[in-house]
Amino acid sequence: MSPAVAVQLPYFDEIIERLDREPDSSLAVAFKQNVHWGYYVEPGTADDGMAGYIEAAKEMTRQVCRAAGVADGQRVVDVGCGFGGAIAHMDATRSDCRFVGLNFDARQLGVARRLVTPAASNEVRFVAGDACALPFADRSFDVMTALECIFHFPSRSRFLEEVRRVLVPGALLAITDFVLPAVFADHKDDLVAAHRSGSDFYGSNAPPITGAEYRSVAAAAGTECIEDRDITAQTVPTYAAMRRLYHEARILNGVRATYELDEARKRGLLEYHLLVFRVP
Ligand SMILES: C[S@@+](CC[C@H](N)C(=O)[O-])C[C@H]1O[C@@H](n2cnc3c(N)ncnc32)[C@H](O)[C@@H]1O
Repeated sequence: MSPAVAVQLPYFDEIIERLDREPDSSLAVAFKQNVHWGYYVEPGTADDGMAGYIEAAKEMTRQVCRAAGVADGQRVVDVGCGFGGAIAHMDATRSDCRFVGLNFDARQLGVARRLVTPAASNEVRFVAGDACALPFADRSFDVMTALECIFHFPSRSRFLEEVRRVLVPGALLAITDFVLPAVFADHKDDLVAAHRSGSDFYGSNAPPITGAEYRSVAAAAGTECIEDRDITAQTVPTYAAMRRLYHEARILNGVRATYELDEARKRGLLEYHLLVFRVP
């Protein structure tokens, strides 16, 4: 199946090329499982090198899975699953589960299938598809995670409508996203223009929305945003770690794009949130 989405993700092109060509390089090792911002438990004294980033990226996965309430015996779907880092974590810590990782990029799914060997009592599948047209039956999952990918999707609201359709009543979805601080809600047009003029290394992204907009988009899609946690402070060392990784790999667009995001963060224009939605 070839999902009908045409999204350019230059950062994944670079990472996949390094995984193939230089599997022992810092970049390939750092992004072997998780490809998202790190959650640094003690950001003030954090190691912003490769080892510190790998541990922080795992911690972000733990935080999201915990917020979603992933438990033994569930049917779990991780949307925008990358190389399967979240599925690998859940598979290693849960039993009697049926896990599905979904991605529109066949290359990433190939890496994920090689990475994850299911634990004895679990079932793991990696499936091609678009987050906004999920190839699953109504009410077929008990819980969903989607780490740092919703801004790539064709529409946040369409995705949340799909969440409502494929999850059972009472189920939770936990995500992370870059969020626009509430104070800028009235200047959104200027900020969106600035967002569009930035580097395209991190791909075609929807502009960030505020927490209040999240609550109304969720409500319109028939879900409820029950938690909105600003974890910007815990992600800060990620910027230095990523800049160094891209610098060492001589990927200058990556250095520049990460620098731009860090500048927006420092100017208070961008926060990083963990959000949880509940299907009524
Ligand atoms: C920053 S990466 C995060 C990957 C993974 N969730 C992780 O945390 O390691 C964003 C992911 O979203 C996926 N993605 C982007 N648009 C998508 C779509 N429309 N449907 C499914 N996956 C999508 C990308 O292929 C990529 O794997």
